[in-house]
Amino acid sequence: MAANTAGDIRMKGSGYYSLATTGAKDVIDGALPLVIGALKAMDIPDNGAVFTMADMGCADGGTSIDTIGAALRHVRGRAPSRPLSMVYTDLPRNDFSQIFQIVHGLTDIPAYAPDIDNLYVFTSGTSFHRRLFPEGALNFGFSATSSHYLSARPGPITDHVHMVGASGAERAAYAEQGRADWSRILLNRAADLAPGGRLVLINFCRDEQGRYLGGTTGVNMFDTFDRLWRALADKGVITNDEYAATVFPQYYRDVEECSAPLVDTDHPVYRAGLRLDHIETRVIDCPYRLDYERHGDAAKFATAYIPTLRSWSESVFAAGLSIGRPGEERAEIIDCFFDSYETFVRENPQGQGMDYVHTYMVIKKE
Ligand SMILES: C[S@@+](CC[C@H](N)C(=O)[O-])C[C@H]1O[C@@H](n2cnc3c(N)ncnc32)[C@H](O)[C@@H]1O
Repeated sequence: MAANTAGDIRMKGSGYYSLATTGAKDVIDGALPLVIGALKAMDIPDNGAVFTMADMGCADGGTSIDTIGAALRHVRGRAPSRPLSMVYTDLPRNDFSQIFQIVHGLTDIPAYAPDIDNLYVFTSGTSFHRRLFPEGALNFGFSATSSHYLSARPGPITDHVHMVGASGAERAAYAEQGRADWSRILLNRAADLAPGGRLVLINFCRDEQGRYLGGTTGVNMFDTFDRLWRALADKGVITNDEYAATVFPQYYRDVEECSAPLVDTDHPVYRAGLRLDHIETRVIDCPYRLDYERHGDAAKFATAYIPTLRSWSESVFAAGLSIGRPGEERAEIIDCFFDSYETFVRENPQGQGMDYVHTYMVIKKE
């Protein structure tokens, strides 16, 4: 099992991610009042200095386009003389070309770049587990649905594909990796941020009622992933070693774990000047399930819903397969796996869905 995870995490490219992931856009659109509120709380003098904003773990930039556009327009309105630098960051294998196509209006998605003057759009392929900017060069950082990705897999999960199904020492190892990575992410952002800067971070979490992505009510999504992947091993389509090698490199933190580095006065993150302004949890209903409740067509639901699962999980299942398999065979196995999920939804539509469960945080640098 690869310890470093950067090679296995990849959203589907060529615009598939944004097209298939309307729920992630709902999650981000709901953060707009927090984003504008955080900007309003900042001193943004109209002094001609570059104002730098970042969307960290942006995928193709389509899900955040309206929120980032509104944030840039807000700053432009308050500081007409300031050049705006907008930096989209993700892992090196991300489809960065798609970001430029979306932001500059080459797709069907309404774009902001053509209408904002003195705006410079950049991308960075550096992991957010590392420093992203020269000391103090970032004024406002945004990130959605990304910081649950771990920098390394801390070990196997014997009988599940995700930490939400792990227990004992295996689960504890993921909790520890999640804690260490979160501290490092925040410490790096503390160094990136200018004094008075803000972060708005939306993270997958386990909420106060123990709910998490696809694990709210009804059929549990990660248990289904696990059961169907294991069924392929039982049928000999994949090997037991491949089943065992398939683990999401993720940890869902709870509110206490998210807050601790920002409220514990002895913590290096607190000492580096980051303070928690706001934290809340929200559950956003799965839009595909809501559609199904309106139209009642199980086949239509299954066909629309599976691509959203596929957009973010396919690379993890592909990474579990032996590198000895030819590419075509790997693609067939992955298709067969998601087909089995689609059949399951079509035949058992009740209670299916992927509700989003997040913490919404506003953080300031003293
Ligand atoms: C589920 S997508 C979220 C995309 C977008 N922010 C949204 O909310 O729709 C997670 C993104 O985080 C990126 N990511 C994961 N680990 C990362 C890391 N260490 N550094 C930068 N980006 C990372 C993934 O490549 C992916 O594009």
